[in-house]
Amino acid sequence: MIKKNSLKICSDVDLSSYNTLGVSAVASVFVEITSRDDLLVLADQDFFKHHQPFILGGGSNVLFLDDPSKAIIKMSVKGKDIVDEDAQYVKAQIGAGENWHEFVSWVVENNFGGVENLALIPGTVGAAPIQNIGAYGVELEQVFDSLELFDMQTGTFKTFYKKDCDFGYRDSIFKNELRGQVIVTNVTLRLSKLNHIIHDSYGSLQSYLQEKSIQNPGIKDVYQAVIDIRRSKLPDPKDIGNAGSFFKNPVVSKEIFEDLQSRFEDMPFYEVSENEIKIPAGWLIEKTGWRGKQIGHVGTYQNQALVIVNHGNASGSDIFHFSKQVQKSVKETFGIELVPEVNIVE
Ligand code: EPU
Repeated sequence: MIKKNSLKICSDVDLSSYNTLGVSAVASVFVEITSRDDLLVLADQDFFKHHQPFILGGGSNVLFLDDPSKAIIKMSVKGKDIVDEDAQYVKAQIGAGENWHEFVSWVVENNFGGVENLALIPGTVGAAPIQNIGAYGVELEQVFDSLELFDMQTGTFKTFYKKDCDFGYRDSIFKNELRGQVIVTNVTLRLSKLNHIIHDSYGSLQSYLQEKSIQNPGIKDVYQAVIDIRRSKLPDPKDIGNAGSFFKNPVVSKEIFEDLQSRFEDMPFYEVSENEIKIPAGWLIEKTGWRGKQIGHVGTYQNQALVIVNHGNASGSDIFHFSKQVQKSVKETFGIELVPEVNIVE
């Protein structure tokens, strides 16, 4: 039986409180989904024949350029369940609309391991696999088991396992082949119960732990360290509008890297593979003089140049034009094309 209550298709909804950049935009069609059955109700009403909706989670990785032309589906399916366990691991299934950091805190309180390095990442659980969130040496794919999604074309639910998701650096099949076709309804992660693997080799994490003389950190130490480091570097959207890293860190060939390194000796880098090197976009932006700079109401954050911030009432297009200027400077100085990490919604 399909549950028909509580599903409301709204019009003219102000989206400013639904995106962490705090940009004003109005959705002409807006539906909030609180149970997976709501999707069947919408399919029953031929909603997906008339609309190719944009799926909104916590709005922490989106820039509305203007009033969106697409219908907006706000994903608010909740729930946290242990669906399987053995001596070593538990499998937790989490509703796509759960807040990511609240979920991480629940995991750490229960003494399960695997996501402590991903504390304080804004957004929802359902958005996490879309861009394979990552921080401080851990990416979601390392703990990912499977997810359930709704296929808007066929009106059916499907399960995708890790091998089906094509995870890459801030990338997955859901950003590519399946873009705009599916809605993630829940995510299942495999978390350790004992013998936790601690990832503490990321530079700033190591310095933090050394400074505090923590020698054999546990998951709670790493969790607290990540929270403190993030708070010191990244602005809280409650205080100042932002969407975290605005651009991805560019990956270049070894040849290009060596040429750049001969000209910029202090350039930080991470080896991705034998022939590919990742360069921190924040450093490139800082080097071109953009760190802490402001034009009108838009700027980069003083403590982390990769974060573009809304100092007041910047519009989506103000932020977009600012980002274009940053891209232009980096291109001119380094020959590198920065690619936005945030979803730009027209
Ligand atoms: N740096 C600068 N100037 C800056 C910013 C950074 O010189 O203004 C240098 C730092 O000194 C350091 C290097 O760049 O040597 C890397 O900086 P950081 O450790 O802050 O990490 P990041 O590469 O800028 C990435 C993620 C973040 C994630 C951190 C920690 C991307 C696009 N960003 O940033 O993710 O929190 O690593 O793991 O991969 C996000 O995706 O929204 C996000 C915040």
